[in-house]
Amino acid sequence: MKSIKVGLLGAGTVGAGTFNILKRNQEEISRRAGHKIEIVMVADLDLARAKELVGSAECEVVNDGNLVVNHPDIEIVVELIGGYGIAKDLVLKAIANGKHVVTANKALLAVHGDEIFKAAQDKGVMVAYEAAVAGGIPIIKALREGLTANRIEWIAGIINGTTNFILSEMRDKGLDFDTVLKEAQRLGYAEADPTFDIEGVDAAHKATLMASIAFGIPVQFDKAHIEGITKLEAIDIRYAEQLGYRIKLLGIAKRTPQGIELRVHPTLIPAKRLIANVEGAMNAVVVQGDAVGATLYYGKGAGAEPTGSAVIADLVDIARLADADPAHRVPHLAFQPNAMSALPI
Ligand code: HSE
Repeated sequence: MKSIKVGLLGAGTVGAGTFNILKRNQEEISRRAGHKIEIVMVADLDLARAKELVGSAECEVVNDGNLVVNHPDIEIVVELIGGYGIAKDLVLKAIANGKHVVTANKALLAVHGDEIFKAAQDKGVMVAYEAAVAGGIPIIKALREGLTANRIEWIAGIINGTTNFILSEMRDKGLDFDTVLKEAQRLGYAEADPTFDIEGVDAAHKATLMASIAFGIPVQFDKAHIEGITKLEAIDIRYAEQLGYRIKLLGIAKRTPQGIELRVHPTLIPAKRLIANVEGAMNAVVVQGDAVGATLYYGKGAGAEPTGSAVIADLVDIARLADADPAHRVPHLAFQPNAMSALPI
């Protein structure tokens, strides 16, 4: 069985989840991929944490991501650094060097996705990002493959675990906002800068990516209307409850005759709806297609192994297509633009 060599950028929560799942389930994963998937190099500025993760495994540990993206034997680079700066630089270098990229970086793709996808298309390599939206839920695959026969009418989802955890804990335990946010950070749900979570920016990144696939539009994060949960108080949650509603932060992308509406805001949902009962850091996405009707996807939207599970799904996808003619494999992972556009706000 041929071995596909992978380089990991970032040994944080998701890096560790990815590494550990691959170690634990190596045999099944390799069998399904048709190739042995091997992480041969891990880069992290914090060398000690990378060394601790790798342990006695045969895998080089470095503190410079350039060594990963320039490594002659590495075919797939997994970017789990996050943010726009060094992550963007390394992703573009990896693509320029002819390597496929797997990333969980929704912020990077929502803002610079078009540039990155174009670079990948020009180079004939794949960029996969299942882990960027809704953690372990295979929503990118559902939109791109499972629902491909449909004209998507709308998508609405709880796609930020931190804010759903905060809203649930405030309602159930009467805890205050700051206490629950600290707990979400401790559990590894929150972004390095939790402002992105609580102000709705992270959900807007994810809604932008789903919309680009579902509606075939370029990534247009700048067109999203974004409102987070920071203005909500415990009393709002209690009043909603008394009126038979739950408040959820929803990411919504909707087809309208004028274009695609893209928005994130707290929403009142009747308490008996399934999605109103999605609690804690769980995510759920409803997709309405013209043929299939409403479909609901539910699962863990954050955390080490749920997100690592999605990263590995992408590694397997790429491994399966790695030997295919680029003309056949690229459309599988590239977005296909059409004339529609997101609505200006
Ligand atoms: N901060 C994100 C969340 C992590 O809470 O959902 C997963 O994307």
